[in-house]
Amino acid sequence: MGTGRKARINGTGIIMLKFYHFKTLDSTNDKAKEFVKDGNLVVVSDRQLKGKGRFDRKWSSGLGGLYMTIGLKVDSLDNIGYLTFIASIAAAKTINKLAKLDSKVKWPNDVLVDGKKICGILTETISTKENYAFVGVGLNVNQERFPKNIANKTVSLFSKTNKKYNIEKISKLIIKEFKNLFQYYKNKDYQKIIKIWKENSHTLGKEIKVKSVSGTFTGKAVDVDKDCNLVLRLKNGKKKKIVEGDIFHNF
Ligand code: BTN
Repeated sequence: MGTGRKARINGTGIIMLKFYHFKTLDSTNDKAKEFVKDGNLVVVSDRQLKGKGRFDRKWSSGLGGLYMTIGLKVDSLDNIGYLTFIASIAAAKTINKLAKLDSKVKWPNDVLVDGKKICGILTETISTKENYAFVGVGLNVNQERFPKNIANKTVSLFSKTNKKYNIEKISKLIIKEFKNLFQYYKNKDYQKIIKIWKENSHTLGKEIKVKSVSGTFTGKAVDVDKDCNLVLRLKNGKKKKIVEGDIFHNF
């Protein structure tokens, strides 16, 4: 078992989360999977050696970033997309309140500031006799520079405001926002989550390109449906439902 510092986060929220802090982990998502049978939890690490993003991509995870996973027992894995939405909205709200920035959510799992990525969410699941969701949040906080391959499309709170931030405080603020929004998930008020996501969206209304396993499509992002899928209006006027993939705004 791990040696992380443990505490319990109380509050007004509908979930109790045990808090684990580590100096170094391979991935907070993987550590959360080890511990979740003991109850819902948050795992934070100062850095990750094998931080991962969607589609098995590497997530740059040096000191100065926030690497956090919320691990939850859930009734079903059918509505997991809402947890990704909740986490990205929680991160965006925290960024905006704390750093006075105007961050927006990008479908399906990013937070952008001025069109550049500041935060990504990786939600993974385990289904045995019970179902678990692991919502991993990677937020660029105090990093002064990034690896060459991502430097021109990535920002941190520091690079945008020239200030350094207390990472533990940010993790607590995001969890507070997450808990507030989680009440809608618990009450199955998914429309409310979609509504708030839309209010904070960078994607909707823009001409975009989508690269997905089923092909590449261009069109206008016109909606997000009740299952968190993106709705694209193609050049021929037809609507196309996008279930997964990467989207690009400048192409
Ligand atoms: C993405 O943009 O593709 C998602 C990136 C998610 C990164 C976070 S950092 C904390 C958690 N642990 C991981 O290994 N990944 C997620």
